[in-house]
Amino acid sequence: MNLKTTVLAAACALVLLACGNNSSLPATTAATPRAATTAQTEASTATASAPTEAATSMSAMSSTTAAANGKPTAVVTNCSTEIEGSDAMQYNVSSIIVPASCSNFEITLKHTGKLPVASMGHDVVITKKSDMAAVDAESAAAGLDAGYIKADDQRIIAHTKLIGAGETTSVSFAVSKIQSGGPYEFFCSFPGHSALMHGSISVE
Ligand code: CO
Repeated sequence: MNLKTTVLAAACALVLLACGNNSSLPATTAATPRAATTAQTEASTATASAPTEAATSMSAMSSTTAAANGKPTAVVTNCSTEIEGSDAMQYNVSSIIVPASCSNFEITLKHTGKLPVASMGHDVVITKKSDMAAVDAESAAAGLDAGYIKADDQRIIAHTKLIGAGETTSVSFAVSKIQSGGPYEFFCSFPGHSALMHGSISVE
């Protein structure tokens, strides 16, 4: 716990925007028992044990992914969730956990900022974590007119359209598509955004 608190405090020092609200602290603490109870089932994928979690936080601090720390898991209701994208180039959540009981899942993205799509566009793209970097680069190359999505990219499991200030968009997909073969990530394909705008999406 001391290590985790230290890591969190250090992450906050690095990323004031992400941790400015103390309400993120209870969420992080609450996540610990879940990680412990599911460690057995997830140990094979090496994503959930406490030591791994701490190690991930440590490595994230030295990279541009630090902003993902300290943000809560998305609230899921009736096989759907609503997340936000801001003018600070950030989502408001760091992970989405899809209930295994859902056959389809819907993600709604709300742009809470004031900037237009051309300068601060956001979307939600889901791929295997191992595909994210390549898909992100090729999506960026597709250009704004294409919504920064490469046409017919089979690596893209689901994606919303690209939106600007005040807009909302949704995408629904079959949960079976991310049930195995992961880990999977969601990210924003606007050029440069995925460094801060990404998180894990898993089925439990
Ligand atoms: Co974006």
